[in-house]
Amino acid sequence: MASRAGAATYRASPNIALVKYWGMRDAALGLPFNSSLSLTLGRIHTTTRVRFDPGLDADRLELNGRLAVGRPREEVARFLDRVRERAGLIAQARVRSRNNFPTASGLASSASGFAALAGAATAAAGLSLDDSELSRLARLGSGSACRSVFGGFVLWEAGRRADGQDCVARQLFPASHWPELVDLVALIRDAPTKAVRSASAMQQSVATSPGYAERLAQIPSRLRRMQRAIGERDADSLFPLVIEECDSFRAVCEGTVPTLDYLTAASRRVLAAVRELNARAGRAVAAYTHDAGAHVHVFTTEGDRASVRRALARLDGVGAVRTLRAGPGGRRVASGP
Ligand code: PMV
Repeated sequence: MASRAGAATYRASPNIALVKYWGMRDAALGLPFNSSLSLTLGRIHTTTRVRFDPGLDADRLELNGRLAVGRPREEVARFLDRVRERAGLIAQARVRSRNNFPTASGLASSASGFAALAGAATAAAGLSLDDSELSRLARLGSGSACRSVFGGFVLWEAGRRADGQDCVARQLFPASHWPELVDLVALIRDAPTKAVRSASAMQQSVATSPGYAERLAQIPSRLRRMQRAIGERDADSLFPLVIEECDSFRAVCEGTVPTLDYLTAASRRVLAAVRELNARAGRAVAAYTHDAGAHVHVFTTEGDRASVRRALARLDGVGAVRTLRAGPGGRRVASGP
């Protein structure tokens, strides 16, 4: 039981998965079929302030300065119920959340959102959870949020146990581990908004995509090789693995019934441009990856950054290219959005 309810503010950044989480063995507990690996990004973040207020008769959510209604508010209220239950609280809450990047850019992520909400709500409720516990809680809001609690390179271990006790995320390497690594995000103009939530889309893939089992079987070895490449800061080994993984994820999505096609023609031009850069150079200059959306993250290293950026910026349908790097994990901040 928490002794005192109050207010707290917490900040967390989105993460980009190098090995994707796609499919749950237990949807209620948020337990994935496979382990995943991501990089938490710097510079862009969500800041969320939660204040429990006994005078409120319902949770109130403000997103980027606007009162939210419908599904976003309900998801937040459901998440707060878990925190209230844990803390023995009944008060409803005022939640103010803000992204320091244009939400319309499509970089807005449920990962940073639920990690920030978990951090702010538990602290406001007087609970003191360590990062591992916070990560487990954030996972219940959105799977990928469990990785945004940690900075740098993060491994989310699927575990095997039915109760999920061995399903945990942890930092593999801090953000400072590989300063030369750059993520150039090609923002696709007119990117469509998601029609189906990832949590249901991935379960459709589990149930219907013919390549799903084969993909699962490939992941442990890919993950091991990636961890080694990251440990050695070896882009020549890492980049082909990132592309291979992204292609495998996309093939599973495309094989889903009904098919899941997240890319636009412009996204595909980005993938083609990266393949061409690598083919022409005869080495791994860059790697592409994308999540369940049209924007494409292109990894490269400092020495190739300018030329890769130029090649992406001139592609038809690419609106802007943002330069991001590894960033810190979630943390409490003094004042709120
Ligand atoms: O965390 P969710 O439910 O939004 O699902 C995330 C799924 C991917 O972004 C496509 C993959 C990942 O591991 O982040």
